Amino acid sequence: MSDQVHWDDVYGARPDAALTWFEDRPDLSMSMIGPLLGPDSRVVDIGGGASRLVDAVLAAGVAQICVLDLSGAALAVSRARLGDRSDQVTWIVADVTRWTPPTRFDVWHDRAVFHFLTEPADRAAYVATLLAALAPAGHALIATFAEDGPERCSGLPVVRYTPDALAAEVGHLSDGALAPVSWARHTHVTPKGNRQNFQYSLLRRHGG
Ligand SMILES: C[S@@+](CC[C@H](N)C(=O)[O-])C[C@H]1O[C@@H](n2cnc3c(N)ncnc32)[C@H](O)[C@@H]1O
Repeated sequence: MSDQVHWDDVYGARPDAALTWFEDRPDLSMSMIGPLLGPDSRVVDIGGGASRLVDAVLAAGVAQICVLDLSGAALAVSRARLGDRSDQVTWIVADVTRWTPPTRFDVWHDRAVFHFLTEPADRAAYVATLLAALAPAGHALIATFAEDGPERCSGLPVVRYTPDALAAEVGHLSDGALAPVSWARHTHVTPKGNRQNFQYSLLRRHGG
């Protein structure tokens, strides 16, 4: 089964509020990227799925928001939820490791996508896309399962990171272009009440 079929099946099988990674409000993400946002900011949510981050970014007054995901079914959930406001969003069905960004972004957001990349070549391709997408002095927030988080997500194996390990991996793959700014630990409680430890790392690109 291809990854795209897997994810379309996952989003087609149940309401988004029943998915383990569902969060009603992306409060930690917004507390970390919110201070960076202005009306002219360009934001991309990588593997945004059906996340409500796009709602929060629009509510913050940002006009240029793009949501990319492998699953068109996931994006359809967000489009339906947003109704008329979905016209303000650029929706892209693509694999982040094979995507050519059409423009530069000030903020790259990824919650629970990078950790699926278990092959070094895929992580290198992800960081190459990130570098092609991020403007000088732009920021990337990468949230993954923490070192004591689950070993699988949506039935797929993941790589777990400490903030130091995440910064080392992305710093190495970007040849030092991306350096850590801040990080946070977070315990996500799934709809069934299970606890999942995450790390959220904010990195900044040199320049600007
Ligand atoms: C665990 S979900 C998280 C969704 C969303 N970020 C959130 O916080 O609700 C992972 C998402 O990444 C997407 N995804 C997985 N691999 C991807 C890839 N290589 N490129 C783009 N999206 C991907 C999936 O379709 C899914 O929507």
